[in-house]
Amino acid sequence: MRVGVFDSGVGGLSVLKSVLEARLFADIIYYGDTARVPYGPKDKATIEHFALEALEFFKPYKIEMLLVACNTVSSLALEVMRAHSSIPIVGVIESGILAITQQFKDKHTPILVLGTRATIASGQYAQQLHAHGYINVHSLATGLFVPLIEEGVLEGDLLQACMQHYFQAIEHAPAAIILGCTHFPFIAPSLQRYFQERFKCSCILVHSGDAIVHHLQESHRLTPLTAPPQVRFFASGDVNALCIQAEAWLGSALYPSCQNA
Ligand code: DGL
Repeated sequence: MRVGVFDSGVGGLSVLKSVLEARLFADIIYYGDTARVPYGPKDKATIEHFALEALEFFKPYKIEMLLVACNTVSSLALEVMRAHSSIPIVGVIESGILAITQQFKDKHTPILVLGTRATIASGQYAQQLHAHGYINVHSLATGLFVPLIEEGVLEGDLLQACMQHYFQAIEHAPAAIILGCTHFPFIAPSLQRYFQERFKCSCILVHSGDAIVHHLQESHRLTPLTAPPQVRFFASGDVNALCIQAEAWLGSALYPSCQNA
């Protein structure tokens, strides 16, 4: 099956990595809107407009399914994308919710949702968790992590100061943290360490890439292929920069099957 993976930029590589490791698709087209990233500080109408333009981008490639790796687009524009397309469009929010419902049966579980300003303002994660009966949900916009991660700051004093800035007001340890932004899996070890040192506990981090793979395996009954998938990269901005980032983040085991568009 040929599948499209759409993100506002390079962050969706964290989702692509999980999809590649699971070998669910033979042919993958990755499109990052790198010329207009970040989407996180933008309004709903703009994000919907960009999302519909992404659908136009994918049209000539005749994809059979679209994975929306971006949490911001999944929060704000999935409905409009589905209304304008006849192929299945799978977002990361419902996948993250599924991961929570399967791992945490206690509806009092303290859940911390992290995301961009637009994702958190949409209330999508919180509303869907509440609809499943979870009553202890705290949502926090932590958009400053995005440029730090893009600058390669994945640990150290700068990230520590940023985590302190965002998390100092949290009084109780979360049992689960939803990494509601494509970039956040890249700082997962630092986040884990911060909460461990602060609250002497370990929390489960919900990663959009792993969650969407699990969701696809369950609801679309996809099973692993034997041959490595082919990946082609496209960007609205500098595609070489995207490929360099892909090589760095995906690692040599996954990247050789990828080609520059
Ligand atoms: N890809 C976005 C997300 O997952 C993060 C970067 C952006 O703000 O566009 O929400």
